Amino acid sequence: MLLANGIGACSPDMPLPVDPGDGSAMTTGECGDLTFENFGQQFFQNYCLRCHSEDLVGDLARTDAPVGINFNTLEGVREFTNRIRLRAGELGDMPPTILPVPRPSEAERRMLIEWIDCNTPSDTDPVDS
Ligand code: HEC
Repeated sequence: MLLANGIGACSPDMPLPVDPGDGSAMTTGECGDLTFENFGQQFFQNYCLRCHSEDLVGDLARTDAPVGINFNTLEGVREFTNRIRLRAGELGDMPPTILPVPRPSEAERRMLIEWIDCNTPSDTDPVDS
């Protein structure tokens, strides 16, 4: 169930196959070496900060992204990992599908989910946690 059934598999703006609800549909079950620094930061920069940035004030500038949901920092991301996982990872409707903005590939969405399921590792984490 990892890559949807072959040809015509999900384009980035379509929902992925139905999730059994236990999170297993989208996980590889393994933690690689994805970190905020080598993956997350650039991901949020590329696909999210045009709306979810603390530098943007007002609904127009934020394209209606809710106030207080900002992904400039690891802390900002960690506050919303469940919703980020759901919307940008599983459902793929963040960024909003009706808007002509860059969006992550399916592979990038899988990396996002893996990074989140591995507890959003960062180079700044204490070594012996
Ligand atoms: C073009 C603007 C735009 C971009 C880019 C964008 N968002 Fe959003 N985001 C919104 C808007 C508007 C809402 C509020 C409406 C909604 O929830 O659908 C929102 C809401 C959210 C929420 C709250 C959802 C909830 O369930 O409460 C999360 C989490 C989120 N976005 C994550 C992301 C992530 C992660 C990215 C990058 C992969 C991203 N967004 C990119 C506009 C954007």
